[in-house]
Amino acid sequence: MSSAVAPGAVIEVRHPLVLHKLGLLRDRHTNTEMFRRLVNELTLLLTYEATKDLATEQVEIETPLGPTTAQRISGKKVAICPILRAGMGMLDGVLSLITGARVGFIGLYRDEETLEPVEYYVKLPQDIAQRDVILLDPMLATGRSTGAAVATVRGAGASSIRLIALIAAPEGIAYIQEQHPEVKIVVASVDERLNEKGYIVPGLGDAGDRLYGTK
Ligand code: URA
Repeated sequence: MSSAVAPGAVIEVRHPLVLHKLGLLRDRHTNTEMFRRLVNELTLLLTYEATKDLATEQVEIETPLGPTTAQRISGKKVAICPILRAGMGMLDGVLSLITGARVGFIGLYRDEETLEPVEYYVKLPQDIAQRDVILLDPMLATGRSTGAAVATVRGAGASSIRLIALIAAPEGIAYIQEQHPEVKIVVASVDERLNEKGYIVPGLGDAGDRLYGTK
């Protein structure tokens, strides 16, 4: 795994476990149950990478054999914000590693005329301005909905923002870097391109449909 999560940086995690699971995830023959499990496992692995610069402090503890020092995460608490609906498939993966995190929800749909994202539901932790925010969106495609979600958490006062996505298109990354250069992006793959319908190629299809079996 690479070694920095600087603002504006994109980290493409090339760990063998990630590559293997991503291949299974992309496969059109992978069923809903397996797809869900893979999204969860991949999110766990990406969370490991996305949180590697969280501050730690030294504390004194006692093992059964005597006193020693240990590291404990210090600094800001975490707020995890899945973008509905596909981001929900990633939530448990992060929560299983950051058990004390608070969760915010951001619901967006695409207006079929303007093609712009429209917010229909937002519920964020009250103290989000004091937290490290991790946005979850499996597919960073055009970047419009992710960008709107970033604007929402920024509007609520958040200043430390990370995005975990499974697959990104170069177009989506460029959009986020231009509009929100402070966001740190961690992905399993940067794919080739978007097609004319806004799907990532080769991608994995519609992440929400594959997670919830709606197609
Ligand atoms: N959303 C998806 O679910 N898949 C894509 O390829 C693009 C956006």
